[in-house]
Amino acid sequence: MEILRAENLSKVYRQNTVSLQALRNVSLTVQKGEFVAILGRSGSGKSTLLNILAGLDCPTEGKFCIDGVDLFQLSEEKRTLLRREKVGFVFQSYELLPSLSVMKNIRLPELTADDDYVKELLDALGIGQYERCYPDQLSGGEQQRAAIARALINHPSLLLADEPTGNLDSKTERTVIELLKKLAAKYGTSILLVTHNESLIKDADRVIRLEDGEIVNG
Ligand SMILES: Nc1ncnc2c1ncn2[C@@H]1O[C@H](COP(=O)(O)OP(=O)(O)OP(=O)(O)O)[C@@H](O)[C@H]1O
Ligand SMILES: [Mg+2]
Repeated sequence: MEILRAENLSKVYRQNTVSLQALRNVSLTVQKGEFVAILGRSGSGKSTLLNILAGLDCPTEGKFCIDGVDLFQLSEEKRTLLRREKVGFVFQSYELLPSLSVMKNIRLPELTADDDYVKELLDALGIGQYERCYPDQLSGGEQQRAAIARALINHPSLLLADEPTGNLDSKTERTVIELLKKLAAKYGTSILLVTHNESLIKDADRVIRLEDGEIVNG
């Protein structure tokens, strides 16, 4: 079953007289439960692609469906609901709310999440002891793990993760990747993960390489 289908996505950023094509005709599909890695150099369009798929930015051309639904055919209200229900997003810059504790940040998208699941996430990510801390009391890697927990709290069908292990040492990175794989298997979550790290390729079911906004392999 297909959870994501993107067709010919292009993105042109225009600033005054300068325009920059960040994505060129990007087409891809992700199946239910599949773990797909997106690799590419800095500036190749990885975050642009993920932001579009998360509905945070509009493509200049092209379309995509999540679980068979074309997001841009929906009203803004319905689009927000669908996104909240189906998609989890880990930002490259975490985007934790500074005035909320770690626990409140994590529970924010799903206040009714069951305690066992919250505990499972916190323990698996090794941040249980920081529950009551505020983001600025945590290291970059700990904040990153809190952002991962937040993205998973509503059991998304699709997890979009922009360099979710970019700030972790290799041992913690391994733990986080193993956790993502475990959760994907347990809950049927599909993962689209952006990384610079070639060593994560072996964890993915499939790798998509981006160069100058274009997919360079199948
Ligand atoms: N809001 C924007 N306005 C103008 N240009 C942008 C904007 N966002 C990104 N770009 C440009 O689009 C290109 C792709 O950027 P993007 O952030 O998608 O790269 P990336 O692959 O995520 O890089 P990194 O690995 O450094 O995070 C870059 O050349 C960037 O300068
Ligand atoms: Mg990026």
